[in-house]
Amino acid sequence: MIQHRVAVLPGDGIGPEVIAVARRCVEAAGRRFGFETDWDERTVGGTAIDAVGMPLPPDTLEACRAADAVLLGAVGGPQWDHPSARVRPEDALLGLRSALELFANLRPVVSHPALDAASPLRPEVRAGADLLIVRELTGGLYFGRPQGRSVTDGVEWVVDTLHYTRPEIERIVELAFELAEGRHGHLTSVDKANVLASSRLWREVTDEISARHPSVTLEHALVDSTAYLLLTQPTRYDVIVTENLFGDILSDEAAAIAGSLGLLASASLGTRVTDTGRFGMYEPVHGSAPGIAGRGLANPLATVASAALMLRLSLGEADAADALDTAVDEAIAHGPRTADLGGDDGTEAVASFLLARIEARAEVPA
Ligand code: IPM
Ligand code: MG
Repeated sequence: MIQHRVAVLPGDGIGPEVIAVARRCVEAAGRRFGFETDWDERTVGGTAIDAVGMPLPPDTLEACRAADAVLLGAVGGPQWDHPSARVRPEDALLGLRSALELFANLRPVVSHPALDAASPLRPEVRAGADLLIVRELTGGLYFGRPQGRSVTDGVEWVVDTLHYTRPEIERIVELAFELAEGRHGHLTSVDKANVLASSRLWREVTDEISARHPSVTLEHALVDSTAYLLLTQPTRYDVIVTENLFGDILSDEAAAIAGSLGLLASASLGTRVTDTGRFGMYEPVHGSAPGIAGRGLANPLATVASAALMLRLSLGEADAADALDTAVDEAIAHGPRTADLGGDDGTEAVASFLLARIEARAEVPA
């Protein structure tokens, strides 16, 4: 029996609740499709700050390095949010991304017709939207140095740096072209080339790589107009590739197309190739939702969809991934709904619905 090694980091707030559901879904798929999962559970974020004084303890990072994939819930909460805090839960995310070299963040966005009422966009605007945001995750403004604040001649100043090397741009853009080849063959590279030097190199590199992918049509677009077009004409996009901060902003904006931030899944891929795929970290795009934590109200769909990405991209379990994706689609179409989707069902009702679908109980004659 194949045994997959997954480091699991439930984290803070609703993290443990949604991770528990995703684990049960993966186990159920394993029983059906013939694999086992060895879960190595570790602390991260605020929970780790409380336990050992740091958001990303060394044993957590080691467990991630030793695994085929990482499944993460969410980090953060008001109790760790003091402006003067020395360490923050979010530092764990940046630490993991950088230490594990997770340079490519994939955020798929699909408009399910059943969620027309949950989206602020008119049904005819969002109908058929199906796009993939490929966000560079280990460079740009998040990691560029110098960064910080100082005082010169009595005047306070701050600096952040938007830094990219050519190889960093090449690897993310190359991956985006490959992903576009497997989808509808259209790539939009988003930048601010009318102002930023980094964007001008980004465009140059993208044009060069484009020559190696003749089946993909490439368009360059500015980030400000993309922010507008994403909501006015979401169906014109297939794959979008962009710099770290632009991708952070555009991917939250794109959640409005899906209908709820509670639905968006993400994969952060590294450079390491495993026996079954590519090493990566998988997490819902939403945060730790401290306001509803521990009350059984959290929407687990984004985490289950993230686990499906993990099965597909890191663990080589495409059938199991399909089973989870189908279960999530059916839950959205006619299953129980949590409050973020306009329903009043709890996490457990959604979990039972998903498990019945994944175990294919509906197909068993009564
Ligand atoms: C995200 C989040 C993080 C980011 C924060 C929590 C550091 O917004 O994953 O999109 O900015 O990357
Ligand atoms: Mg974000």
